Amino acid sequence: MVKTIELVNGVVNMLDQTKLPREVIYVECKDYTMVAKGIKELWIRGAPAIGIAASMGIAIGANAINASSYDDFMKGLEPIFNTLLETRPTAVNIQWAVERTKKLLDERKDESIDSLKTFLTDEANRVLENDIEINKTIGKFGSRFIKDGDTIITHCNAGSLATGGYGTATGPIRAAVEQGKKIHVYADETRPVLQGARLTSWELMQDNIPVTLIPDNTSGAILQKGEIDLAIVGTDRTVANGDVANKIGTYMLAVLCKEHNVPFYVAAPLSSIDFSIPTGDLIPIEERGSEEVTHIFGTQIAPDGVKVRNIAFDVTPAKYITGIITEKGVFRPEDLHKLNEPGTDLESIMLKAE
Ligand code: MRU
Repeated sequence: MVKTIELVNGVVNMLDQTKLPREVIYVECKDYTMVAKGIKELWIRGAPAIGIAASMGIAIGANAINASSYDDFMKGLEPIFNTLLETRPTAVNIQWAVERTKKLLDERKDESIDSLKTFLTDEANRVLENDIEINKTIGKFGSRFIKDGDTIITHCNAGSLATGGYGTATGPIRAAVEQGKKIHVYADETRPVLQGARLTSWELMQDNIPVTLIPDNTSGAILQKGEIDLAIVGTDRTVANGDVANKIGTYMLAVLCKEHNVPFYVAAPLSSIDFSIPTGDLIPIEERGSEEVTHIFGTQIAPDGVKVRNIAFDVTPAKYITGIITEKGVFRPEDLHKLNEPGTDLESIMLKAE
């Protein structure tokens, strides 16, 4: 499995995903501004992966702070937090990383600055390792819904490359393969940045998982032919009522799945669930530059000056979602909020595979 990101000797090595699949190149980020640039320019992308990158950016940014008191250290961290938070607004994972750091530092106010710096580096590595474990657990729960012989459709890339490893949406797929189930994956190409074509199909092929790449506008036809058994996608931010923000085109796929009675699952680590937002219409949605639409790899494909709308994410209402696969189990979207309520008996609300 390819390594997305690592923190070694105070340097963040980031796989430049914009170059995939043609070149496998790691960029050395020696300061937090370079990590932020990498997130903004999609060298690294995918909600959990950018949360990990943010934790690592915080760690290397903190190392460069010259402070003698806890308060000065926290003041030094502020521009780092803000720069990272401004990179990409939809995925909640950067916010998650910043809030988690603040809380953990608050619990260690009495420690020396040097020990806080070491702690942040260790913590960033822990976030990476935990993420892989979480994805494997998502894989275990989600694979119960995959039968031998099933064909699964996915959108964008919610695989190893979008996480610390193993993937969220690819978690159940990888686990099913490990269990000896014969499965097949359809990967939507995912215009305009082509994460499905460039990343999902590449990483599945690397691991010998059977995959067929389709243009985004083909999923309807394949569903109509009855060739898909279930859909599994990732999420950038899932909110309290079970609405899901994910890569643009996810909503279209979910509506089509409903029309064809195909179950639609969302793989969501708790770090991508934002219980503070009640409904999906309140999720901040990133819009990106026009060039991603008018050009493909530097070649212009649309007329000069054409107006473009490049909305990077859409919101799929909970009513289209069969189940949300988390590291705590699989839940109906309408039950998701109960995960945030103390004392909930999770076993009693878990969705069971037939
Ligand atoms: O713009 P991207 O490539 O960062 O969008 C990624 C997605 O939409 C993924 O599906 C989502 O982040 C989940 S990744 C496990």
